[in-house]
Amino acid sequence: MKYIKFDNNKNCDLNILFVYEDQLSSVDSSIPKDSVREDIKLSIENKIVSGKAGSTNMFSSRMYANNYYFIGLGIKNELTIQKYEKYLSAALREINSYKISSISIDTTNIKIRHFELVRGTITEIEKAQYSYKKSGNSSIKECYLKVSSKIDTRQFKSIVAESLAISNGINKARMLGDTPSNICTPTFLAKEAKKLEKISKNIKVEILDENKMRSLKMGSLLSVSQGSKQPAKLVIIKYTPLKKKQPIVLVGKGITFDTGGISLKPSANMDEMKYDMSGAGSVIGTMQACAEMGLKNNVIGVLACAENMPGSQATRPGDVVVSMSGITIEILNTDAEGRLVLCDALTFCKKYKPKYILDMATLTGACLVGLGKYPSGLFSNSDELSSKIKKSADKTGDRVWQLPLYDDYFEEIKTNFADIQNIGGRYGGAITAAAFLATFTKDEKWAHLDIAGTAWEIGQNKGSTGRPVKLLTDFVMTNK
Ligand code: BES
Ligand code: MN
Ligand code: ZN
Repeated sequence: MKYIKFDNNKNCDLNILFVYEDQLSSVDSSIPKDSVREDIKLSIENKIVSGKAGSTNMFSSRMYANNYYFIGLGIKNELTIQKYEKYLSAALREINSYKISSISIDTTNIKIRHFELVRGTITEIEKAQYSYKKSGNSSIKECYLKVSSKIDTRQFKSIVAESLAISNGINKARMLGDTPSNICTPTFLAKEAKKLEKISKNIKVEILDENKMRSLKMGSLLSVSQGSKQPAKLVIIKYTPLKKKQPIVLVGKGITFDTGGISLKPSANMDEMKYDMSGAGSVIGTMQACAEMGLKNNVIGVLACAENMPGSQATRPGDVVVSMSGITIEILNTDAEGRLVLCDALTFCKKYKPKYILDMATLTGACLVGLGKYPSGLFSNSDELSSKIKKSADKTGDRVWQLPLYDDYFEEIKTNFADIQNIGGRYGGAITAAAFLATFTKDEKWAHLDIAGTAWEIGQNKGSTGRPVKLLTDFVMTNK
C-alpha cells in the first residue's frame, strides 16, 4: 500500500472525512460544487449526518466517479486516539467490501498529535488489509493522506515508514496467533524468529533445544513440554545496533496449544488456546518492527515456547520441579503452565543485564474476568517502569490497567512441599499469577502484561488482534 501526502483536493474512489457531533457545520468546504454537495448539505441539515460517535454515511456523486464517506467522532473534546482508531477500523471493515482501489483520508480536523494520528491512521488501514485467508485480501492500493501542513514531506515519509514497520509487526503477530497449532508449534515459532535475521544485520537469533535447556537446569519450563511430542524451544532474538547499551528485554509466553495438561480444560472453545502463544507472537512482531524501522535502541526478545498436553509423561498435580533459579515449585494445577515456562525464561534473561524486563502472556482467565477485554492487565515492581508503560498505552490507545502486588498475594503461593506452588487461592488469580512471576525478578525492573483479554477477539471478528505490539513498539521507541 502506498501513502501519499496531499494538500489540495484529491478525488479518489472514496474520500473519507470526519465529523463531530458538536461541530456539524464545518463539513462541506472541501467538497466540489456538484449535486453531491447539495445532498450532503441537506443531510447535515436533516441530521442524517449526525457526527455521532461511530456513525457512518456515504454519498455518491453522479457527475464524478467518487464517493464521500463521513465518519462520526462524537464530541470533539472527548476524542482520544483509542476512540479514533476504533471508529476508523469499523468503517474500514465496511469499506473493504466495496472493492475499490484508492481512498483519501482528511485528518486535518482531528486534534491528536501528528505522529500519533498518522501512526494510528496507517496502522488501522494496514490492519484492515489483513486476512488469514488469502481470499479475503483488500483491494485498496493507494491512500492519499491529508495531514497538517506543519508536517513536511521528509517528516511525513519517516512517520509513514515507522508506521508501516509497526503495522507489519502487528499483522505478523496476528498471523502467528491465527495459525493453527498443528502448524504453529514451538519449532515453527523458532523458525519464524530465525527468518527475522534476513531483515537486518543487527538481528541475531539463537534457538535453545531441550538438551541445552536441561544443561541450564530449566526444570520448570521443561516440565510443561514433557507431556507433548513437540519439543520445547527457548528462542532469543537479539536486536542490538548499539554497542554497550543495556537492552530492554521482552519475554513472551509461547504455549502453542494449551489443553491444560492433566488438569484438562473443558472442551468448549478450547480451539481458542491456539492463541496461547500470543505473548511470543507479540515479541516477534515487535522485534520485526524494530529491525524494519532501523530503531536505534537495543532490544532482546525471549520466547518461551512449549505445548501443554496430557500425555503419559506429563506432570501430575503435586509434582515438584526445580526451576533454573533454584526455587522449587509444587505444580498443583498443570493448567497454570504459563508461569512455569516464563519463570525460567525470566531467570535466563538476567544475563543480559536488562534495563527493563517486560513479559507478555495470555496468563489467566481471571484477568479477562476482572478487566474485560479492553485493557491488558499491568503488574510491576517499579513505579518508574509502570508509568512509562502507561504513557505508551495512552499514546497508542493500546490500553493497560495496573493491578496491585501486595505482600498478601505472595502468602497465597506458599506451600509445605516446595518453595512456592503454582496457583493461589480462589480469588485474584491474575494477581497471584503475577506474584509468582515477581518472585523470579526481584533484582530487575520488571513488568508483566496479562493479555488474556486483549490478544484476540471472539465473535464475528474472531481472530488475533496483534496487541500489544503497538504499545511495545512505542515503549522501545520512546525509551532509548
Ligand atoms: N492460557 C490460560 C489462560 C487463559 C484462559 C487465557 C482463558 C485466555 C482465556 C492459562 O494457561 C490458564 O489456563 N490459566 C488458568 C490458571 C489457573 C489454573 C490457576 C486459568 O486462568 O484458569
Ligand atoms: Mn493453562
Ligand atoms: Zn495457558
